[in-house]
Amino acid sequence: MNTPVPCLSVPVILGLLVLAGPPVRAAEPATAPAAPPAALPRTDASGNPLRRAPTGHVSNYDEAKVGTYTLPDPLVLQNGQPVRDADTWFKQRRPELLRLYKAEIYGRVPERAPQVTFAVVETDPGVMNGTAVRKEIVGHFGDKPDGPAVHVHLYLPAKAAGRVPVLLHLLFFGDPPADAANGLRRFSEIGPVADILARGYGYATFRYTEVQADSADTYQSGVIGLTLAPGRAIPAADEWGAISAWAWAASRVLDYFETDPAVDARHVALIGHSRLGKTALWAGAQDPRFALVFPSCAGEMGSALSRRDYGETVDDMAVNFPWWFAGNFQKYPGHWNDLPVDAHLLIALNAPHPVFITGGTQDQWADPRGEFLAAVAAGPVYRLLGKKDLGTSDGPPLDTPLITGDLGFLYHTGAHTIAPADWNAFLAFAEKYLKPAR
Ligand code: GCU
Repeated sequence: MNTPVPCLSVPVILGLLVLAGPPVRAAEPATAPAAPPAALPRTDASGNPLRRAPTGHVSNYDEAKVGTYTLPDPLVLQNGQPVRDADTWFKQRRPELLRLYKAEIYGRVPERAPQVTFAVVETDPGVMNGTAVRKEIVGHFGDKPDGPAVHVHLYLPAKAAGRVPVLLHLLFFGDPPADAANGLRRFSEIGPVADILARGYGYATFRYTEVQADSADTYQSGVIGLTLAPGRAIPAADEWGAISAWAWAASRVLDYFETDPAVDARHVALIGHSRLGKTALWAGAQDPRFALVFPSCAGEMGSALSRRDYGETVDDMAVNFPWWFAGNFQKYPGHWNDLPVDAHLLIALNAPHPVFITGGTQDQWADPRGEFLAAVAAGPVYRLLGKKDLGTSDGPPLDTPLITGDLGFLYHTGAHTIAPADWNAFLAFAEKYLKPAR
């Protein structure tokens, strides 16, 4: 049997203390300090990563606990005025959203960004059994001969009747795609090059870390290192983090394509997986010359809504990958609802250009449903600009490509990767926009 415990209210306790006169020394705290939280297992029973962020937040995978939220309306200006036409979108709403993303999330490219000088260093006219021309192009950042440089590998169909559309694929590893036997690869990241070339497109890659290291405390190297203001060891709080640097480099490679007579630079698609999917979305948002963008499993701070408490969160990202972002991003752990933007706006900034988004059943960390809902919530901007949205708000359906509109989506059975089914669906989607020279 439980013995009833006498319970004194706070005012009664305070009253007793006053009656007893001032304490001689500070009273012992009534309760012991909170025990440190129990260690978390690395994953939950389904294999989803479990993390406890410094804010105390623990990863959630329960749809019933994602919380309620209100997304910023893509078609309402910060001053509360509605956006009713394309002109207001392009002249007011789009610029203000870009400003917010630059200042608060990814960081702006400083005016001191280096010039990039491209040179074709090698041309092999007969690779892949004579079906392809391979070019290696080196882009030097800045004017120091030993400064950072990016190696672009470009594969072109050997029998093109004119300039060809190109799929520019940002890679974690930089080996030429013909070399498939590299045990180092973390992801099955090389595209189906033969299929891409047979469709009449070119395929190009570069390795992201040639532009900027992907690690903590490396601001003084790479392109960011070239642009640090005198006396600074890190960029200013609104200046670029690594994602902005990688995205900027993708645009510089597009500058090169504009000078290559074999490339149709008005039809260049940008592809990236995971952190490079975030990068692709941000590059497409800023540079309307990209004709089409494919962010694969881009997740938190990419294609998935941050306001949903599911999988990775702002709290995890700000502590695990601070160098990806502007310093100002550190304002938002624990305050997701104060973010001035969310993933639907990043997608919408790509409009009217098509975006194809993927997620995987075994990639709940990236919140595939949050990716789908972001694509749905970007729909009003596509419609305003005379384009077609996803065509449904019910989903995501499993293993069923949604590619009838200008926003595309595929939720694949499987892991955090660009699966063969994703490539197939993406290429079918891309066909609507990229016409080969015949
Ligand atoms: C981590 C990170 C993700 C990111 C991924 C990747 O898992 O939490 O946000 O997308 O790395 O880039 O592989």
